[in-house]
Amino acid sequence: MIILWPMTLLLAQATFTGNLACRKCHPAIYAKYQSTPMARSSGVVAGDVVAGSFQHPASGFQFSVDQQGLVAGRKLTHYVGSGAAGRSYFYGLGGFLFQAPVTWYAQKGRWDMSPGYEQDRDPAWNRAVTPNCLFCHASQVRPIYGTENGYADPPFLQDGVGCERCHGAGSEHVQGKAKMVNPAKLDPTRRDSVCSQCHLAGEARVEKSGKSLGAYRAGDLLSDFVSYFVLTGGSGGGVKATGYVERFAASRCKQASGDKLWCATCHDPHSVPEAQQRVAYFREKCLACHQQAHKNTAERDCMSCHMPRAQAADGGHGVLTDHAILKKPTGAALHSESSWKLKAFLGEESPRETGIAYAEVGVRTGNRNQQDEAIRLLSRCKLDAEVAVRLGDLLQRQGKTREAEALYQAAIRLQPPGPLVALVNLGVIHGSRAEYEEAIRWWRAAIERNPGQREAMVNLIPALRALGRAEEAARVEESLRRFAAQPPAKKR
Ligand code: HEC
Ligand code: HEC
Ligand code: HEC
Ligand code: HEC
Ligand code: HEC
Ligand code: HEC
Ligand code: HEC
Repeated sequence: MIILWPMTLLLAQATFTGNLACRKCHPAIYAKYQSTPMARSSGVVAGDVVAGSFQHPASGFQFSVDQQGLVAGRKLTHYVGSGAAGRSYFYGLGGFLFQAPVTWYAQKGRWDMSPGYEQDRDPAWNRAVTPNCLFCHASQVRPIYGTENGYADPPFLQDGVGCERCHGAGSEHVQGKAKMVNPAKLDPTRRDSVCSQCHLAGEARVEKSGKSLGAYRAGDLLSDFVSYFVLTGGSGGGVKATGYVERFAASRCKQASGDKLWCATCHDPHSVPEAQQRVAYFREKCLACHQQAHKNTAERDCMSCHMPRAQAADGGHGVLTDHAILKKPTGAALHSESSWKLKAFLGEESPRETGIAYAEVGVRTGNRNQQDEAIRLLSRCKLDAEVAVRLGDLLQRQGKTREAEALYQAAIRLQPPGPLVALVNLGVIHGSRAEYEEAIRWWRAAIERNPGQREAMVNLIPALRALGRAEEAARVEESLRRFAAQPPAKKR
């Protein structure tokens, strides 16, 4: 019998065209959007770096940055951050992107170590720039599949947050063939998804099986792609750069107003108010609902008392406005009860999603309750690459290397070439059994996917030596030195 396959009708899928294509027909919006922090949130370094230098006490090094972005023998190529609060810098090495350990802090007006490097005695230049980092700050990002931090050249086609991140892909619309998504006209859950894709992080963000946040388009439901988890007792206080959505959701204004109040009630997504107008601009927004509030003119700057600014809890992100809109702001936690338990803030609370969230938070904080809960939940799930690698990692931490090994192998089989940590850790398992050939193979594979992978390089050197391959070991040492805090000495 012959099986006949019907032809499937391919629907034309709109693609991204970039902001410039919108300019002709929407010149006013295009022009004002250009100057917003979102539009300017990333770009190419073009001889406009603020020069400066500083001494780093922990390492004893002196870092000097010049206008071209030259620092410690490296050339900074891209930046992230409009510079309102600060700017992170990246540099490229053979098609791979790495973060610089130095950051420009605009509010302090000086260069200093990047968050997380403060106490580092050898601040290496090997921190990978993952697509996740660029997702919120750049548009049309072009990661190379299978690598951790390899990108096409250029790594992103559009600086900053492009129009189409909030309006959907525009290739059809620019030809007059289709309508764009207008967030304000979407149902409230889809509408709020548009801002939440970048302004919400939670304690853990978990992609659903087979889904990638990178595929989300304005108009979609964010919860079809990812689930977000928060601590049941509140997220330990403090305001985070990506925590606006959670704080805002806890406000009386939002709870009592429901769907009619959302981010764009107070924020014009295409512009920010001039400094001298901001007090009046936001007061007008408040008074739309609170005509009766305070007749006293001394109380005109509503923000100063009800939405005060506080130092960000996620270091380096600067000073942020508290969106909990409290009667008597304390800047503290919304809930004081401390708990290790997580709950979904948005999306599914299935064993898979919840288990991965516990694994992520548990490993980050070292909390054993969370790690055990992750193992309990993930053991019950159907295996996919993510479940397998998380469970493998947790079991390896408990010394169960046989189980871990099988899970890492499964992760690689289920979704080749597999998660990078599976490769590095398989190397460690083989290395601990003195199976050096096998271990070296895994570590070499890991380095191919990220040439700055430090654990793999550091492990490789003694393994190669153990096999008498001193020359190869020396070459790995040399690659490692390329990431040292200060540049390797020039060859004569
Ligand atoms: C050739 C002219 C043209 C170009 C180019 C163009 N637009 Fe439009 N746009 C229109 C017209 C006409 C309308 C009103 C009719 C409609 O909604 O399609 C519109 C409406 C819109 C709306 C409102 C939709 C609604 O339902 O409220 C948005 C949002 C929008 N455009 C975004 C964009 C973006 C983003 C780009 C660039 C990717 C772009 N437009 C490029 C002509 C254009
Ligand atoms: C693609 C990611 C992305 C999306 C989508 C997004 N934002 Fe942003 N937003 C950012 C980033 C990144 C910044 C920080 C920009 C910077 O300073 O570098 C930011 C900054 C802001 C700011 C601060 C501007 C200032 O004065 O400093 C406001 C307000 C804001 N966003 C509102 C919104 C609203 C409202 C929506 C939804 C309609 C939205 N954003 C959607 C990524 C995004
Ligand atoms: C989930 C989305 C998200 C991710 C991922 C993310 N950021 Fe941000 N980032 C934001 C938002 C939103 C802001 C703006 C907060 C504000 O304006 O208060 C911001 C602000 C910043 C700023 C300060 C910008 C300014 O206002 O001058 C820097 C620098 C920065 N991020 C760097 C990074 C780097 C480096 C990474 C990757 C390692 C990263 N961010 C990952 C969303 C994100
Ligand atoms: C951060 C998200 C965001 C970005 C980026 C963004 N918009 Fe919008 N845009 C919105 C929202 C939200 C609305 C609806 C505002 C409302 O009605 O409250 C809107 C409305 C519109 C409209 C229809 C209403 C009007 O005012 O005419 C057009 C056209 C439009 N945007 C074009 C653009 C263009 C062009 C760009 C890039 C230059 C852009 N937008 C960038 C969020 C965004
Ligand atoms: C869409 C309408 C809306 C907007 C806009 C709005 N609020 Fe509210 N707000 C409410 C509602 C409704 C309540 C609950 C009133 C009640 O409980 O009786 C509330 C409650 C409050 C409370 C009391 C909080 C508490 O802990 O009891 C304060 C303070 C407040 N708002 C300040 C502001 C400020 C400041 C702004 C502007 C930045 C603002 N609101 C914008 C609707 C709004
Ligand atoms: C009730 C009004 C109101 C609503 C609703 C609101 N904001 Fe804000 N937002 C403010 C005020 C006021 C500021 C401080 C502006 C200033 O100081 O110039 C601010 C500042 C910001 C900033 C700039 C960085 C900072 O911390 O100062 C970001 C980013 C931001 N809001 C994001 C959001 C997002 C995302 C939402 C929706 C989840 C949202 N806002 C909803 C009033 C609001
Ligand atoms: C100097 C600080 C300060 C400023 C400025 C201020 N408020 Fe308040 N507001 C308070 C305090 C304190 C309370 C709590 C009063 C109480 O519980 O008796 C409050 C209470 C409120 C409430 C709750 C009213 C109620 O009856 O529970 C609202 C709504 C509110 N403010 C809105 C505003 C708006 C809108 C503005 C700007 C026009 C503003 N506030 C400016 C300090 C301030």
